[in-house]
Amino acid sequence: MWKKILALFIGVMVGYWLIDDFNPDALKGKRVVVTGSSTGIGEQIAYHYARMGAHVMVTSRRENTLKQVVQKCKELGPPEGKYFYKAADMANMSATQLVIKEAVSRLGGIDILILNHILPIPLGMWEGSPQNLTITDKIVDVNFKAYVHLTSHALPHLVASNGSIIVVSSLAGKIGQPFTAVYSATKFALDGFFGGLRQEFRMKGCDVSITLCVIGLVGTENAIKGLKDYGQHYLLEMLPAETPRDTALAIIRGGAMRRREIFHPYLSIRLMTLFRDWMPNVVEYINRSMFTVPV
Ligand SMILES: *[C@@H]1O[C@H](CO)[C@@H](O)[C@H](O)[C@H]1NC(C)=O
Ligand SMILES: *[C@@H]1O[C@H](CO)[C@@H](O)[C@H](O)[C@H]1NC(C)=O
Ligand SMILES: *[C@@H]1O[C@H](CO)[C@@H](O)[C@H](O)[C@H]1NC(C)=O
Ligand SMILES: *[C@@H]1O[C@H](CO)[C@@H](O)[C@H](O)[C@H]1NC(C)=O
Repeated sequence: MWKKILALFIGVMVGYWLIDDFNPDALKGKRVVVTGSSTGIGEQIAYHYARMGAHVMVTSRRENTLKQVVQKCKELGPPEGKYFYKAADMANMSATQLVIKEAVSRLGGIDILILNHILPIPLGMWEGSPQNLTITDKIVDVNFKAYVHLTSHALPHLVASNGSIIVVSSLAGKIGQPFTAVYSATKFALDGFFGGLRQEFRMKGCDVSITLCVIGLVGTENAIKGLKDYGQHYLLEMLPAETPRDTALAIIRGGAMRRREIFHPYLSIRLMTLFRDWMPNVVEYINRSMFTVPV
């Protein structure tokens, strides 16, 4: 009896995995805005879209790096592809509005909005020090409020195109993580905001999809450096890091298929989130055991 149920369950899971109607050609000509796209996952997202024939607007704080990303998009994409950048600081809410305005005037509208940027901050235990409290405002502005502002300014354009919002989150947005308490909190907040928005879209018959991406350890320069600087050599040894390139593709795929959530790497992140409500202490123990407490 149990064997049959287990076999059925595994069969359904594998079947679900194999049925993959992702068609990169469908992204040809789509108008895409990617935030946090001068390095890491965001940069790779821009390159994949360029290869697939989409038009791309990249944004981050660093103008010089953005220029290089646009140049590389031109090399990878078809000659008719349009690639632009807008340097902007996501701690500045007027700048979020300008990014959307610029994207609409350059690309003629928006089909896909990828919210990916974060404020890079060193790992550390929460002590409630004045420094911890001061930086909290900025983390919330960049990691959460800017997502709400960008979405609000882009929404009329996304409604017009039946477009998609793709929110890059983390396992830290499903299970609280040590040494990144405020970061974790902003990722949970995104789940709440976009979960509420998704419900309202259904109520209004609004055909804009929202995909939340729950991502594990990805070997971006920033992530690896942050972990090394904080002495997390055990975690780096134990957990294989995904490549930014594969992660970017998983994100694009999930968005194109209008999934509500994606998990990457699938199995470990899916299982952790699946079990977190049933056995939170075990899940948190497993997660905690990867970290080294600094002396
Ligand atoms: C915020 O962005 C706006 C628009 O780009 C700019 O005019 C303003 O100076 C920026 N504010 C700060 C504090 O940088
Ligand atoms: C909290 O503040 C202390 C002292 O100001 C600092 O050493 C630590 O890195 C901070 N932690 C975080 C998470 O910001
Ligand atoms: C958006 O979807 C609606 C209803 O499904 C449809 O009538 C409309 O033509 C679509 N618009 C675009 C731009 O695809
Ligand atoms: C624990 O959390 C980290 C940071 O979010 C994550 O990269 C890692 O995959 C988690 N550990 C396990 C065993 O899933």
